[in-house]
Amino acid sequence: MGRAVVQVTLFGLLLALTTTLPVKDDWDIYSFHINSTVSSRYAITVITSRVANRMDESKEIEFHVRIPKNAFISKFKMLIDGQVYDGVVKAKEQAKQEYTQAVSRGQSAGLISSVGRTLEEFKTSVTVAAYKKVTFELTYEELLQRKLGKYELQIYARPMQLVTDFKVDVYINEKASINFIEVKGGLSTKALANAITKTHADKEAWVHFYPTEDQQKSCDSCNDQGMNGDLVVVYDVSRDTNLGEIKVQSGDGYFVHHFCPSSLIRISKNVVFVIDQSGSMHGRKIIQIRTALIHILNDLVKDDFFGIITFDSFIYEWKRELVQATKENIRSAKAFARNIKDNGATDINGALLKGAKMLNAQPRKGSASILILLTDGDPTTGERNFEVIQSNVRRAIAGKFPLYCLGFGFDVNFEFLEKMSLQNNGVARRIYEDSDADLQLQDFYEEVAVPLLTDVTMTYVGGTNLTQTNFSQYYNGSEIVVAGMISDNDIGTFIPKVVGISVRLNRHCSLVSDSRVQRVWAYLTVKQLLEKGLLLSGSEKKDVTKEALRLSLKYKFVTPLTSMVVTKPQGETTDVLNKPKEGATQSEWNPPLVPSIVPGVRGVGYSPHTGTYSALLPQLQSRRHQGRAGPPGGKQNKWELNKHNAFFLSFILNHATPPLLLVTLVFCCVTLPPRPSAAPLIHRFLLKPGNQSLPLCFDVFGNLKLKLLHHPNSGQLTLIRQDKEIDVTVGDVRIVILIHGKREFLWPALRQQSSDTNVSGILGSALVISALADKDLCAFVFFFHRSSAVDYSIAANPSLTCWLMPAELALQRRLDEFIVAQL
Ligand SMILES: *[C@@H]1O[C@H](CO)[C@@H](O)[C@H](O)[C@H]1NC(C)=O
Ligand SMILES: *[C@@H]1O[C@H](CO)[C@@H](O)[C@H](O)[C@H]1NC(C)=O
Ligand SMILES: *[C@@H]1O[C@H](CO)[C@@H](O)[C@H](O)[C@H]1NC(C)=O
Ligand SMILES: *[C@@H]1O[C@H](CO)[C@@H](O)[C@H](O)[C@H]1NC(C)=O
Ligand SMILES: *[C@@H]1O[C@H](CO)[C@@H](O)[C@H](O)[C@H]1NC(C)=O
Ligand SMILES: *[C@@H]1O[C@H](CO)[C@@H](O)[C@H](O)[C@H]1NC(C)=O
Repeated sequence: MGRAVVQVTLFGLLLALTTTLPVKDDWDIYSFHINSTVSSRYAITVITSRVANRMDESKEIEFHVRIPKNAFISKFKMLIDGQVYDGVVKAKEQAKQEYTQAVSRGQSAGLISSVGRTLEEFKTSVTVAAYKKVTFELTYEELLQRKLGKYELQIYARPMQLVTDFKVDVYINEKASINFIEVKGGLSTKALANAITKTHADKEAWVHFYPTEDQQKSCDSCNDQGMNGDLVVVYDVSRDTNLGEIKVQSGDGYFVHHFCPSSLIRISKNVVFVIDQSGSMHGRKIIQIRTALIHILNDLVKDDFFGIITFDSFIYEWKRELVQATKENIRSAKAFARNIKDNGATDINGALLKGAKMLNAQPRKGSASILILLTDGDPTTGERNFEVIQSNVRRAIAGKFPLYCLGFGFDVNFEFLEKMSLQNNGVARRIYEDSDADLQLQDFYEEVAVPLLTDVTMTYVGGTNLTQTNFSQYYNGSEIVVAGMISDNDIGTFIPKVVGISVRLNRHCSLVSDSRVQRVWAYLTVKQLLEKGLLLSGSEKKDVTKEALRLSLKYKFVTPLTSMVVTKPQGETTDVLNKPKEGATQSEWNPPLVPSIVPGVRGVGYSPHTGTYSALLPQLQSRRHQGRAGPPGGKQNKWELNKHNAFFLSFILNHATPPLLLVTLVFCCVTLPPRPSAAPLIHRFLLKPGNQSLPLCFDVFGNLKLKLLHHPNSGQLTLIRQDKEIDVTVGDVRIVILIHGKREFLWPALRQQSSDTNVSGILGSALVISALADKDLCAFVFFFHRSSAVDYSIAANPSLTCWLMPAELALQRRLDEFIVAQL
């Protein structure tokens, strides 16, 4: 047993990224259809892919598509050689028990994973005999939500090869007139313009997208592997001035009410922005916040009142009380916004309480109050207990106005923000850390910029099993949707009524008939029960969850409570598909699937206790003789034992969304040198990828001097000593040395990375890790144990969950390279 050699460079990685994409020459998607029908905003989409194995041997054929996050998958089937294999929706727990084998293989959860802001990825594969065909068919459903005055249906097309018969068909059928329809998205470009046809006839509309193979190569995001982009069908329906539209399903008594009156006038608002300016907002984030805030201030209307609170370890009010949005005040607020600076820790509790107090201090009759929190991290100072903060905030707001929480980036505990928003009649949104973050912030603000009604109560005499009926505010551009059942199916006694402050509505509306109403009701009820489950605990939570599960099973929705079990032809593994959890960075790791190209190889485990790897490589030896056994493409990805008895492995360390962390390593044998037992543990290092990924950590043993950061062209050094930290700027690198605790323990935290690629050292390496992000890779899984490490890069020293791995792997270099013989 030799020792492990881990040898990776960033360039090697990028190379690996391009070479692990599956080669598709040997199978052919000869037909790919997406058919979406929207009836009263409820969209049912079917993706059908027909694939032929053109080879004289059996082949693993993959089905790999993207669907909107908001959708529930409701059906999946495969047709092979006249035989149908149906996916079955089961309670997650039950699927887990029945298919322990599939689940323990680590194939359970990675198959539907979250990609980017709006999509989830669905992936499965099956072996198809020589010259045989397979048809995959996936159905998903979603209720289109009206935002900023429109509905959007997003369809993602990425077959990963050119397809002779490629079609997207959308049919929209509404009970009210469709007043406009547009096609947008990455595929709606000039090159593809004549592949798109759009027909619009009062209450119906059709969109067809039939690109030729040539066109499939020619759009912006397309190449020889075909299209990769989305089509977004955008539309709205005309509305009348009264109660809106109520649809009933003839026969079984379900109804759905779309409430969206057009003739209301805006009511003035009182809005308080509570903005995190803690140290972690440093750099682009704080610049984007300033930009967004300045735009938003420009959009305030004269009869609005507003306040701005910024916070770090302290809380700063621009003005002690709400002020009117006069020209003079806006000018002064913009000057304040331009000067928002990052610094210190995060006191969410104190800041929110101050915001609530400001709104409570000046209740204005007939106006709408709104509290907006923007933060990029967890509370690190002041009150830090999530539950205590939630209960404080709830008490302070007392149901009087909604709280909207915007979570910036992936260091936030989104569940905490979501729960707090829901407890206060608001919603939480994620702001993705990207170049358009300022626009995302402005878009969110626009959604709540024009309140039309407050305290909206929808009542339905003769209605039962209603979805949510009380809404704290109703904004221009949105829509309230309530579904339920009509008691005894007696339309004669059914009286809908809407009461809201600022306008009283109580008019008749016509009942129209629609066949999808029951599914709309089920979809809304399940979504709302899942949200409610977040707020409850104990037996109440159990009841709500039980009902959500019952309905998920009844309507065959793949929700967070259910799994879809896909049984395949004999001899093949069953897939258990789960819906990914939004931003589930802390609580759940969804291991990606081991691609079936190399069945048998399941990954490698590393035991922190013994310091040994245990590889699950039952068939490696035999596969060596089978030609290309590894991911096809690149030479270095061949599964070959070389003369050092080492082989190449690629793997993804991923728990859901990008970035996937892919490391190629030369791995030798099965056992690493055991941890030197005599050497004391000197430190546990933590590498924070900065977004979605769980941090990595590793231990360094023995009495070593390690190079933390080496900057070859250091330039000028600036040193600022503050109370608990020393701020060092060298060239374009900024480091804050934090002074921790009573032991006066110093720890350097990198706050601004250098653009110089020659920077080396452990802190420099962390940058390499955080720079990796890519989406579409398949490779091999390693299982690392979860552990925890203290984060000394912020004053509060929180303990973070991390993946414990050998230093070599985390640093992607041999540890020797960081050891300094003498200072
Ligand atoms: C799309 O699906 C609907 C509903 O199943 C069906 O009626 C329609 O014919 C399909 N359209 C196409 C173009 O296949
Ligand atoms: C609501 O938004 C529409 C555009 O979506 C606009 O035409 C209308 O004037 C707005 N209503 C109010 C009251 O601002
Ligand atoms: C409607 O609610 C009643 C109780 O109010 C319950 O017994 C019934 O099962 C519910 N119906 C559905 C379809 O959930
Ligand atoms: C909705 O609001 C009304 C009036 O404010 C109240 O009587 C009722 O209890 C509320 N219903 C729910 C489910 O909160
Ligand atoms: C990095 O170092 C190499 C050789 O030492 C030098 O040629 C190169 O210019 C350096 N890169 C930068 C960005 O300074
Ligand atoms: C993750 O962080 C890296 C580096 O900070 C960045 O390049 C990448 O785009 C981020 N990924 C996402 C999904 O935000």
